[in-house]
Amino acid sequence: MKINSEISAIVTGGASGLGEATARVLAAKGAKVTLFDLNEERGQMVAGEIGGAFAKVNVADEASVDAGFALAREKHGQERIMINCAGIGWAAKTAGRNRKTGEIMAHPIKDFQLVININLVGTFMCLSKSAAGMMTLDPLGDSGRGVIVNTASVAAQDGQIGQVAYSASKGGIVGMTLPIARDLAREGIRCNVILPGFFDTPIYESLPPEVKDSLRSHVQFPARFGRPEEYGEFAACLVENDYINAENIRLDAGARMPPR
Ligand SMILES: NC(=O)c1ccc[n+]([C@@H]2O[C@H](COP(=O)([O-])OP(=O)(O)OC[C@H]3O[C@@H](n4cnc5c(N)ncnc54)[C@H](O)[C@@H]3O)[C@@H](O)[C@H]2O)c1
Repeated sequence: MKINSEISAIVTGGASGLGEATARVLAAKGAKVTLFDLNEERGQMVAGEIGGAFAKVNVADEASVDAGFALAREKHGQERIMINCAGIGWAAKTAGRNRKTGEIMAHPIKDFQLVININLVGTFMCLSKSAAGMMTLDPLGDSGRGVIVNTASVAAQDGQIGQVAYSASKGGIVGMTLPIARDLAREGIRCNVILPGFFDTPIYESLPPEVKDSLRSHVQFPARFGRPEEYGEFAACLVENDYINAENIRLDAGARMPPR
């Protein structure tokens, strides 16, 4: 699908990191972009800079998502591009021992549910409601009615110690790619997923430098963290190339994660 000023796009998590970079790439190509994010201050700032719109949306809350779509469609018309980047990281073992007291604890179920709810259910809710909206549009020839790009993680395939909830949420995103593409094929809507390796974004802000160095050591070539714009350009490429569909693609410079 050619990205131009006729095309509207929604980017969740668009106030920061990979979502922000994607919103900037789409806007530079002329698209009318609406950002969905919890971070109102940064969301408004980025939307202002790219001439787009911002909606304060919690992707895990249906009423909030519905209000976001209403705002986006009011401002820019029905979107043909849906990019899902909103997500959170998490660290807790399946069951573990407290290092100081020796106490044995199962993974808090509430925490597991929170991660699944934001990363997996939130992604599905946004893409499902977006697809229903796209189905009201006329197709643009071979480009069809619309395109969905979701964000998983290499942790969907090689999750490390403590990543069980995060890996499950991202594995769910990977697992639903093919059925989504099949469900929506007749409607002319494609769905692809990017599995990023390590990208320099605020999600790693709280990590100590030695942990970041350790992550970097698993990258093959180029041996550095990815730049958010490299993600944004790749997401745009998945939108623009009409022949790519139902794919889960690692964007990781060859990184393979060991257990820790
Ligand atoms: N940065 C990486 O190396 C990396 C690697 C693999 C996967 N990912 C995935 O990429 C996506 C983007 O990550 P990032 O690195 O840009 O992180 P980030 O923290 O910079 O951006 C995530 C954005 O999502 C928003 N968000 C979080 N929960 C939300 C909710 N419930 N509703 C709406 N917005 C919400 C945050 O406010 C933030 O602006 C995430 O899904 C993350 O899991 C990132």
